[in-house]
Amino acid sequence: MKKIKTTFFCRSCGYQSPKWLGKCPSCGEWNRFVEEEIRVSDTGIVPELQFNSFPIPIDSIEADETERLKVGIDEVDRVLGGGIVAGSAILVGGDPGIGKSTLLLQVMHNLAEKDLKVLYITGEESAKQIGLRGKRIGASSKNLVVLVEIALENILRQIKEIKPHVVVVDSIQTVYSSTLSSAPGSVSQVREASGQLILLSKKTGIPVFLIGHVTKEGAIAGPKVLEHMVDTVLYFEGDSGHSYRIIRGIKNRYGPTNEIGVFEMRDNGLCEVSNPSEFFLAERPEGAAGSVVVPSIEGTRPILVEIQSLVSSTNLSMPRRTSIGVDHNRVSLLIAVLDKICGLHLGNHDIFINVAGGVKVDEPAVDLGIVSSIASSFLDRPVDPGTVVFGEIGLTGEVRGISQQEVRIKEASRMGFNRCILPRTLSRNLSSETNMDIIKIGNIKGLLERLF
Ligand code: TYD
Ligand code: MG
Repeated sequence: MKKIKTTFFCRSCGYQSPKWLGKCPSCGEWNRFVEEEIRVSDTGIVPELQFNSFPIPIDSIEADETERLKVGIDEVDRVLGGGIVAGSAILVGGDPGIGKSTLLLQVMHNLAEKDLKVLYITGEESAKQIGLRGKRIGASSKNLVVLVEIALENILRQIKEIKPHVVVVDSIQTVYSSTLSSAPGSVSQVREASGQLILLSKKTGIPVFLIGHVTKEGAIAGPKVLEHMVDTVLYFEGDSGHSYRIIRGIKNRYGPTNEIGVFEMRDNGLCEVSNPSEFFLAERPEGAAGSVVVPSIEGTRPILVEIQSLVSSTNLSMPRRTSIGVDHNRVSLLIAVLDKICGLHLGNHDIFINVAGGVKVDEPAVDLGIVSSIASSFLDRPVDPGTVVFGEIGLTGEVRGISQQEVRIKEASRMGFNRCILPRTLSRNLSSETNMDIIKIGNIKGLLERLF
């Protein structure tokens, strides 16, 4: 039985409420609620797509870890946790124009080259446009089939008919189910379409990539609405004004999260950046005050990033504190610690912090880097260019140990750094192994003497 019922959805995160709300209690955004129709049938799903399953003991389930399908682009395989898992749904989100379609077409091209049949469904571009893009990136395989379609029922039928090894839907916001009267891109349409596609994928074992645009304004639901439904969520970082692109795994049921893949947008599509540390440090101003290098861990691998600060005196009664790439609250805390413990009075100074290269780092290991770079800019004394620092800072100024210290030291040594300031908890002596001068500190009181 089909009943028509409506409810209010948040267009940013998909939160449901029986009445209209000004502010979303889930994501905190204002004025994002819209009333939409939801379909309530006996089960809520199309009967032919139901699992009809029965309980089985866990030890009789065949779970084979080797079933991953390698894409052949290392940076993509890494963020996926080693390849595509059969029957998984992968959401690829990002701002318009950042390179989602390009990357996915490259992925499909690579798979098609391996003699796998792949289906690229698009509702955004014409077949001709896809063909042109295909030419640019060199995709010409017969195994790569393009379908221009937005009707969900047709898409499902075609997938069942063609039986591809992998499916891409570009973008999920254009897919439209005729069982719902709301417009394409509305929360209920996006949910319905992804729900059906995910179900089909689980049933048949065909992995699906769903592309979702991040939308700030307007009536289109964002990819956040789907995050809880899919197995893996990948987001593009970096802005279209720069040539680099970072994809980060935000959620992964089959692998580590926070793993990043680094790419550069060229004329012939996205190219892998296999040595990101070198890439992010390429434009480092050596010997400039305020610049400090930190070995940060992104997912499972170490990447050296440069933290820059600018501290300048101000007449504003509320000095400005701006941070890009690091957490704003964390920075405020560290400024207070510097003030209290090191006696650097920053109260009448504007402080700007930036992680060069547009990376976002949100691990406590960068604390020592932030503090060092603020101190360096404030005192106008450059940090020795061969030095890296890392460590978490507590409220009393103590420098706390963090995970994977050895990996970080080795990466810094590989990149030619010769001095490392780190928490005193490091137990192994790595100086001779890595040719590094290792300086252990327990409190940031001792930091300033060691830094310059
Ligand atoms: P696109 O993949 O269409 O973005 P999205 O699907 O995320 O909206 O990428 C479009 C941008 O990429 C556009 O600005 C042109 C640029 N681009 C290149 O620089 N080189 C290329 O080879 C391709 C295909 C695109
Ligand atoms: Mg696109």
